[in-house]
Amino acid sequence: MGRIILFTGKGGVGKTSVAAAHAVKSAEEGKKTLLVSADMAHNIGDIFETRIGRTPVPLGENLDGLELDPDMLLLQEFPEAAAAVRKLLQGSGAGAADPGDHFLIPGFEDLFSLLKIMQIYRSGEYERILVDCAPAGETLSLLKLPELLSWYMEKFFPVGKTMVRVLAPLSKAKYHVELPDRKAMDEIEEMHLELLRLQELLKDGNISSVRLVCTPEKMVVEETKRSYMFLSLYGYRLDGVFINRVLPEEADNVFFRGWREIQRGYMEELRQVFRGIPVSEIPWYPEEVRGKHAIGRICREILTDPDLFKIRAVSGGEEYTGIPGGYQLCVSLPGALQGQAEVQVHGLDLDIILNNYTRRIPLPNSLRGIRPSEVVLEDGKLRISFPAERGEESPAVREGGQS
Ligand SMILES: Nc1ncnc2c1ncn2[C@@H]1O[C@H](COP(=O)(O)OP(=O)(O)OP(=O)(O)O)[C@@H](O)[C@H]1O
Ligand SMILES: [Mg+2]
Repeated sequence: MGRIILFTGKGGVGKTSVAAAHAVKSAEEGKKTLLVSADMAHNIGDIFETRIGRTPVPLGENLDGLELDPDMLLLQEFPEAAAAVRKLLQGSGAGAADPGDHFLIPGFEDLFSLLKIMQIYRSGEYERILVDCAPAGETLSLLKLPELLSWYMEKFFPVGKTMVRVLAPLSKAKYHVELPDRKAMDEIEEMHLELLRLQELLKDGNISSVRLVCTPEKMVVEETKRSYMFLSLYGYRLDGVFINRVLPEEADNVFFRGWREIQRGYMEELRQVFRGIPVSEIPWYPEEVRGKHAIGRICREILTDPDLFKIRAVSGGEEYTGIPGGYQLCVSLPGALQGQAEVQVHGLDLDIILNNYTRRIPLPNSLRGIRPSEVVLEDGKLRISFPAERGEESPAVREGGQS
């Protein structure tokens, strides 16, 4: 079975450096490895001091590099769907008009980079695929996209393919909205299925995991904690944190002593937040991380864990347990504060709403349509209790609320 690791973190913290070092280390172990950049602002070429293109380029023995171009992928792989979705949005004014409708998410095209990664994974050509992702915020919106797309599919195509076909000519004349034709419809359906499969692959805790890169400073630490919370909300597995640019002991004068103290505080905080997950520190080197020598140094000094490429920690995921008089669903939300989460029944599914993020969880048959009796957020765990019997219909339960 292959292995996929996604590297993300705030802009400029060292994602590419850490991903590149993993790639070199992996190739040294004799595993066929691909380092992919899914960040529009590609920079794996810079770090290896070579040009990398839209098809895999050899970077060394057992190691290839690839920089993906999502616009090109969308046009190549799903041309009809791309055109239809654009027309549909232009005609209906969706997205721009309704901010709640999240469809026109910047970076929608970026999702196709991830689809491409799934294709490469399936081809079995590489044992390990290491992905240098866009900064955390964008990557997280990508990871939740398949769920949003499901929402979109329901909203725009509730009547099914056949009806869309019948309505297509009508809608153009009457409503000035161009519905997709049959070919586009087939493609949209296929694209949707592929996105669901992609989500399944990236959530498969035996294959895929996410590693966060950060630096020990306030804003970055806060964003890193948020990322952990949202990765857990969506059920992705985090199995490594890299704290980069740690000032070394040698940096000893009044100025750096103060900074080292500040860094130490944040590193302690990070180690507490990420208890149970391997945390590594990377010193602030006296030079940029550029070229094989600099990458090799990180490999030798930092990436020494013999289990580096294994799935190294268990985090996230939903768990159902039986409780007296019913069931409990427990969702890990590390760092979430009391009062931040809301739970809503949505048809046969359950929505967990945390700040601007909504996670839709399909419920098992036995819990479908049953309203939660209690929602409690405590110690980074959201516990949703369901009675064994169906009660009155009411869609929303606030955290802390009981029926
Ligand atoms: N530990 C370090 N010591 C010194 N320089 C470093 C260290 N880590 C990274 N750098 C340098 O910092 C810059 C940013 O690193 P890198 O490109 O890996 O970050 P990134 O998170 O991928 O950035 P971006 O968000 O722009 O893609 C680079 O010039 C790199 O050489
Ligand atoms: Mg980068």
